[in-house]
Amino acid sequence: MTADSGGGLTLVRGNDILSQITGHRADCLDVISRAYLTHADGGAALPHSVFVRPDPPRPDRFIALAGHLAGDFGIAGIKWIASFPDNVAAGRERTSAVLVLNDTRTGYPIAVLEGSVISATRTAASAVLTAEKLAGRRKAARVGIVGTGLIAAHVCLFLTELGWDIGGYTLLDTYRDRAQQFRARLLEGRATAARVTTDVADLFDECGLIVLTTTANTPYLLDPALLTNCPLVLHLSLRDLGPNLISVSQNITDDPEHAFRENTSVQVAERTLGDRAFLSGTIADVLTGRVARDGRPAIVAPFGLGVLDLALGQWVYQQCQDQGAVTTVPGFFSDPLR
Ligand SMILES: NC(=O)c1ccc[n+]([C@@H]2O[C@H](COP(=O)([O-])OP(=O)(O)OC[C@H]3O[C@@H](n4cnc5c(N)ncnc54)[C@H](O)[C@@H]3O)[C@@H](O)[C@H]2O)c1
Repeated sequence: MTADSGGGLTLVRGNDILSQITGHRADCLDVISRAYLTHADGGAALPHSVFVRPDPPRPDRFIALAGHLAGDFGIAGIKWIASFPDNVAAGRERTSAVLVLNDTRTGYPIAVLEGSVISATRTAASAVLTAEKLAGRRKAARVGIVGTGLIAAHVCLFLTELGWDIGGYTLLDTYRDRAQQFRARLLEGRATAARVTTDVADLFDECGLIVLTTTANTPYLLDPALLTNCPLVLHLSLRDLGPNLISVSQNITDDPEHAFRENTSVQVAERTLGDRAFLSGTIADVLTGRVARDGRPAIVAPFGLGVLDLALGQWVYQQCQDQGAVTTVPGFFSDPLR
């Protein structure tokens, strides 16, 4: 994949990206799986993401995730993603993002892609991929979702498109109307049963697969009795679970170098418990079979690696280019003076 030799820059729209992903989520799973394995084999350069928070403090933040992925990928770039929680009440998405892909031979940017769809897709793909490997099948008697926003919606798109056999959904959101709307959308699709609850203990009691996609900043699920039924918890929002739940579970993350930062639940647990002995392994370990369910509750908490955005962005860009769904700005880069 090379940059435009005529000095042009290619742009790819969010709706075109979503069109390419829809119907191809099995391919997305494959891309994400290969990216994890390349990263585990040492084929990724992945500095810590940079969090920029306004001063004086507000709930808003910007994050830069840069990286380079070698192996079959040969791609570099950066995701620049903003999170403004108040956007949701105003009818906008909380997050907005761009993804820049760079040519690894010249360094030139190849393309700028709308980044939030790719970001949500890679997050959902990593969760559903790991759930499938740990469960050994695409089946869950009941799925519980806490925080019925954008990422949860993308998780459900994966579960539906990949043909998961799901008995029903239990939904909870601080804003009950958001959970109700989510329920309505699920029932318009292929879901046959979905209910809204305000009691998180109820949700944990009746669901074997639980997706946490809130915007909580500090742990609020503190009672280990929540895990009595030994669920598989996809802890995508990273800061919901207290140390007492983590200490009785099998814990899986994507990369400990990244995950034990920024006040995530695993970092809080490490501070409280004194070490990281509660960590069972990584998603790559699950993919290679080194880690499997061991009878305890399982918590999967992927910090979110920038190289996943690059891998999926590269795949999406290729699809969009093949379909002519890209726009090139000619002469974007200035002519050489030398
Ligand atoms: N791990 C990763 O790789 C990764 C990637 C992307 C996003 N995320 C995280 O996923 C989370 C969800 O993102 P999103 O884009 O879907 O956000 P969103 O704003 O679209 O949805 C979040 C929902 O959670 C609800 N909520 C907040 N706190 C709650 C609580 N304590 N209990 C119940 N509901 C609550 C909100 O009302 C909202 O409806 C965020 O924390 C985000 O940072 C993680």
